[in-house]
Amino acid sequence: MAVHIRSSTDADFAATLAIINDAAVAYRGVIPADRWHDPYMSADELNQEIRDGVAFWVSEQDGRIVGVMGIQDKGDVTLVRHAYVVRTTQRSGVGTELLRHVESLVDKPILIGTWAAASWAIDFYRRNGFNLVSTEEKDRLLRTYWSIPARQVETSVVLADARWSRSAAR
Ligand SMILES: CC(C)(COP(=O)(O)OP(=O)(O)OC[C@H]1O[C@@H](n2cnc3c(N)ncnc32)[C@H](O)[C@@H]1OP(=O)(O)O)[C@@H](O)C(=O)NCCC(=O)NCCS
Repeated sequence: MAVHIRSSTDADFAATLAIINDAAVAYRGVIPADRWHDPYMSADELNQEIRDGVAFWVSEQDGRIVGVMGIQDKGDVTLVRHAYVVRTTQRSGVGTELLRHVESLVDKPILIGTWAAASWAIDFYRRNGFNLVSTEEKDRLLRTYWSIPARQVETSVVLADARWSRSAAR
């Protein structure tokens, strides 16, 4: 199977949104009910994220987008934002390849926020070399680098890479 990772273009918008909303079904019944929406992300929200500087990378298999991952430069650090692989292709290595790709693009420490209840996503990042930061540190990091409601701060975790442990920004 021909797999190709490339930078997202305007023409990928609809496919990106569809993949996010397909994969995010995993959150239904898992994340706090007051944070779940169907669809999980609207076109307006995705547009806003792109305007706020989230640059998406897409993984294509035989010409079809099967996974997306965004990175957002925040000065001292880079955030990985919105990592989603279409349900029919999950657990076949697409997410790992996308993560390795975006990691290779930056030399800043990388931070990732996800729902505390999304144990599979936490496993995915841990097996890719990320570690959970303490509760005090995640509260501070989410307030510093993310623009999310207080309720989401409460119910989220932050994972950091090895560069973060050595970083002066800590
Ligand atoms: C998390 C996600 C991006 C990982 O991408 P992926 O291509 O499925 O991951 P990979 O195949 O590279 O890695 C698989 C590993 O991730 C973890 N994992 C991924 N999906 C899992 C699931 N549904 N259940 C349990 N573990 C899972 C496991 O550690 C798995 O290893 P295993 O299959 O040997 O047990 C993808 O599963 C996804 O979109 N999930 C739903 C949305 C989500 O949670 N996004 C993260 C937002 S921060």
